[in-house]
Amino acid sequence: MNSLKASTKLAIAHDTNDRQAFLESLKLLGDLPLIHKIGLKMLPRLEKSDWKLFQDKEIFVDAKLHDIPSQVSDAVKAYGEWGAKYLTVHLSGGKQMLTEAQKAASTYNLQLLGVSILTSLTDADLLDIGFQQTQASVEKLIKLGKNSGLNSFVMSAQEVSSIKKIYPDVYCVTPGISLEGESKQSDQNRTASIQEAVQAGSDMLVVGRAILKAPKPYLAAKRALELIASCS
Ligand code: C5P
Repeated sequence: MNSLKASTKLAIAHDTNDRQAFLESLKLLGDLPLIHKIGLKMLPRLEKSDWKLFQDKEIFVDAKLHDIPSQVSDAVKAYGEWGAKYLTVHLSGGKQMLTEAQKAASTYNLQLLGVSILTSLTDADLLDIGFQQTQASVEKLIKLGKNSGLNSFVMSAQEVSSIKKIYPDVYCVTPGISLEGESKQSDQNRTASIQEAVQAGSDMLVVGRAILKAPKPYLAAKRALELIASCS
C-alpha cells in the first residue's frame, strides 16, 4: 500500500446513522492509509467499547465543539482520553474557548482543528448571520485561531492558497471534495476536485458520500488515494 501513501492525507467521513454499517466500513477500508472521521450522526450511536476497535486507526472526531470554555476544554480532554487523533472546534467560539481547548489538546496526542466557515455556506448565508463575505471571514477566523495557539484549520479548498500565502505553516483540512465524474453534493457549495485541492496545498482532504455511497467503496477510496498520490 506504500504507493498510496502521500503527504496529503485522505479522511473518510463515516456519515451514517447505522453503527453496524460504520463498523463494517471501518473493517472494509482497514488496510488503506486513511483517517476515519466520525461526525455528529455517528458519535451518539457509538458504544464505549467501540473505541477499543479504533486503537490501530487514526480517528478524527468531527464534534465541531462550540460552547463556553470550561465545557469545551473538558470535552477535548474526554476525546483525548478516548484516543482521538484529530478533533474539531468552531473558531467562532472565541479566543478564551480556543486557548483553553488548545491547552487541553496539548496534554494528549490530539491535533485540534479550528473550523472556519462551513463549506456548505455561501457569501449570502454569511451576510444573513452577520459575517463578512467568505474570504474575509475565513482569514479573520484563522488569525483568531493562530492568536489562540492553533495551527490546523478547516476551510474549503478554494481558500487554501490565499491562507497559505499569509500563514505558510498552517495545516489545512478541506471537505467539499468531489470525485471524477461526480456532481457536487446538494448541501455543499464551496467545492473542489481532488487535483484542485492538492494543488492548492491542502494537507488533508475529507470525502464522505462520494466514497461511501459509491458502488464499490473500497475501490473508490483506493482510486482517490491514487489520484492524491499522483498529484502530490
Ligand atoms: O459527503 P461529503 O464529502 O460532502 O462530507 C463532507 C464531510 O465533511 C461531512 O462529514 C461534513 O460534516 C464535514 N465538514 C464539512 N465542512 C466543514 C467541516 C466539516 O463538510 N467545514
